[in-house]
Amino acid sequence: MYDFNGKFVAVTGAAQGLGAAMAQRFLQDGAEGVALLDLNREGLQAAATRLDPAGTRTMAVVCNVADHRSVEEAFHQILARFGRVDILINNAGITRDSMSHKMTVEQFDPVVQVSLNGAFYCAQQVIGPMREQGWGRIISLSSLAAGGNVGQANYSAAKAGIIGMTKTLALELAPNYVTVNCIAPGLINTEIIKSVPEKQMEAFLKSIPMHRVGEPEEVANLAAFLASDEAAYITGQCIKITGGLR
Ligand SMILES: NC(=O)c1ccc[n+]([C@@H]2O[C@H](COP(=O)([O-])OP(=O)(O)OC[C@H]3O[C@@H](n4cnc5c(N)ncnc54)[C@H](O)[C@@H]3O)[C@@H](O)[C@H]2O)c1
Repeated sequence: MYDFNGKFVAVTGAAQGLGAAMAQRFLQDGAEGVALLDLNREGLQAAATRLDPAGTRTMAVVCNVADHRSVEEAFHQILARFGRVDILINNAGITRDSMSHKMTVEQFDPVVQVSLNGAFYCAQQVIGPMREQGWGRIISLSSLAAGGNVGQANYSAAKAGIIGMTKTLALELAPNYVTVNCIAPGLINTEIIKSVPEKQMEAFLKSIPMHRVGEPEEVANLAAFLASDEAAYITGQCIKITGGLR
C-alpha cells in the first residue's frame, strides 16, 4: 500500500480492464480524486459507480483520447473540479490485428492514434502544471509487443513509440522532479485478450515461464509503485510485467 493522500489522478481507458484496476488501486491508497476517462459512456458510468458509490472522489469524463479537442475539453473539466492532476496514467489502447500485407489504413491509423497520439495529447495537458509544481508522475501503457509481434505492426509501432516518447519526456521533465515511465505487460487477464483464438492462447501459455496470464491488480501494483514517492528516482524506464516472458 502506498500513500496518495492529497493526490489527484487521471486514468484514461478507465471503464474496464487495467484502467479500472489502476483507478481502484489509487482510490484504495487514498487518492483525493481520480478522474476516469473513457470513450465508452455506459462502461464509464458503471465503473465510476462500482469504484466510488458515493461519487465523492471520482469523476467520469467521456473522452476520445485520439481527438485533441476532446482531450482539451476533458482536462478543462478535470481542472475545474480537481484543480490539478498529479498523476497521469495513459492507459487507453485498442487492437486491430492483421498481417501487414493485409492491414488497411483503417486498421493501422486508429491503433496509433489512440495509444500514441492519445498519450501525447494527455501528457501535454499536464506537463506544464507538473513542471511548475515540481512533482508529477506520467505512466503510460506500452506492451511486450513493442518488441515485435506477428499481426500487430500497428500496435507494436504505437507501443514502441510510447517507449521513445517516455524517454524523451523523462529527460525533459527530470529537472522538475516529474518522473515519466512506462509499463509493458505481457498477457493480462482483460477483455483485450479475449479476442486471442483458443489455440493461440494455449501456445502463449506454454511460452510464458510462469504458465499463467497476469491479473489486472498485478499491473496496478506496479503503477502504484511507479507513482509513489518511493519511486522518485526512477524515470525514463519501461518495466516489463510478463511472468518471465521476454
Ligand atoms: N491486457 C493485456 O494483456 C495487455 C497487454 C499489453 C498491453 N496492454 C495495454 O494496456 C492498456 C489497457 O488494456 P486492457 O487490457 O485493460 O484493455 P481493454 O480493452 O479492456 O480496455 C481499454 C479501455 O480503453 C478504452 N478506449 C479505447 N479507445 C479509447 C479512446 N479513443 N479514448 C478513450 N478510451 C478509449 C476502452 O473503451 C476500454 O475501456 C492498453 O493500452 C493495452 O494496449 C494490455
